[in-house]
Amino acid sequence: MQMQSSRPDVFVLRREVRVRLTATGVCHTDAYTLSGKDPEGAFPCVLGHEGAGVVESVGDGVESVVVGDHVVLLYIPECRNCKFCKSGKTNLCGAIRATQGKGVMPDGTGRLTDKASGKSLLHFMGTSTFCEYAVLPEISVAKVDTAAPLTSLCLLGCGIPTGVGAVRNTCKVEAGATVAVFGLGGVGLSVVQGAVLAGASRIIGVDIDSGKFANALTFGATECVNPKDYGSRPIQEVLVEMTDGGLDYTFEAIGRTETMRSALEAAHKGWGMSCIIGVAGAGEMIQTRPFQLVTGRRWVGTAYGGTKGRTEVPQLVQEYMDGGLKIDEYITKKYPLEDINQAFKDMHDGKLIRGVIVY
Ligand code: APR
Ligand code: ZN
Repeated sequence: MQMQSSRPDVFVLRREVRVRLTATGVCHTDAYTLSGKDPEGAFPCVLGHEGAGVVESVGDGVESVVVGDHVVLLYIPECRNCKFCKSGKTNLCGAIRATQGKGVMPDGTGRLTDKASGKSLLHFMGTSTFCEYAVLPEISVAKVDTAAPLTSLCLLGCGIPTGVGAVRNTCKVEAGATVAVFGLGGVGLSVVQGAVLAGASRIIGVDIDSGKFANALTFGATECVNPKDYGSRPIQEVLVEMTDGGLDYTFEAIGRTETMRSALEAAHKGWGMSCIIGVAGAGEMIQTRPFQLVTGRRWVGTAYGGTKGRTEVPQLVQEYMDGGLKIDEYITKKYPLEDINQAFKDMHDGKLIRGVIVY
C-alpha cells in the first residue's frame, strides 16, 4: 500500500519511513561528491547525510518506529539479519548496499522529485538530508530519546560517532594508553573526545594548522604538534622520539595517504595500532615498508567508527543527556537551508568544526 502524505511528491512504501528533517550537518563527504571527483557520485541527487528529524509517516510493516518518534538518519543501516550484522564483527550492514550505492530505495525506485521539472532525483548515501523530508528504509533510522534537542543530534549521523567509535569500537583504546590524532577537524576532535572518555594518558594532536590547537586542547588533547615546525623531518620520527618509541594508538582523520603512513610509523613497535578514518581520493594507494607490520604494528580502518547505528546511537544520545558526551561544542555556526553554499564555503575556509543547517 502507498501512504499518501501532505506532500504528494514524497511517499513511503512498505518498511519505509518518511522523516521531517530538523537539522543536518555539512560534511566533507558531501563536498567531495559535489566536486565530481567521487566516481560513485551520481547526479542529479540530493546530498547530505548527517541528519536528524521526526518520523512523519510510516509504510506497512514498519515495526521499530511510529509517527512522532525522533530519529537520527543512518548512512550505514543495521538490519540485524544479514551476514555482516549477524557476524557481530562489523557495522557494515550489507542489506541495502547495492541499491543505496545506486542512489535508489531497496525496490530500485526513488522517492525524490524535483518539483520544477518533475524529474526524479537520486538519493545520496541512503539519506539525502539537504531537503526538508527524507524517505528511508526502516533499518536506516535510529530511534532516540525525544527529550534530546534534535538540532544537536544530527551530528550523531556521521562525525562524532566516527571519531569516538574509532577509539572505542575499532581500536578498543584502554585506560592509560597513549594516542596521537592526525587532523584536528570535527572528526579528529571526536577522536580526542573518545580518547579522553577512554582514559588515555597522553593525547597528542597533529595538524599543519596551529589554529586548530586551541579547540583540541579544550576537547582534552594533552599537547599539539605542527609538522611544519620540524622542517623536512618526518613527523613520525618526531612523535617516536617524543614518546620513547611510539604511541599505543594513532588515528588518521585527514584523508591523505602520506599522513596515513606517518600515523602507522608513529605507532609503537610490537603493539602499536594505527587506524585510518580519513577518506582518501578514489584510486589512491597507501604504502609503508612491510617491516613496519612484521615488527608488530597493526594497520586498521573504520567507517562510521564501527558504530551499529540503531543499537549504539541511542546509547550515545543517553551519554549526551547525562553530560558525558560533547555534541553542542562542535556546532560553530547554524544556517538556514538557503545559505547552504555559504556553509560549504565556510567549511572549505576551515572556519567550522561543524556547520549545521537548521530547517
Ligand atoms: N598534516 C596534518 N594535518 C593536516 C594535513 C597534514 N598533511 N593536511 C590537512 N591537515 C588538517 C587540516 O588542517 C584540518 O584541521 O587536517 C584537518 C582535517 O579536518 P577537516 O578538514 O575539518 O575534516 P574532518 O571533517 O575532520 O574530516 C576528516 O575524515 O570523514 C573523513 O572525509 C573526511 O577525510 C576527511 C576526514
Ligand atoms: Zn545487516
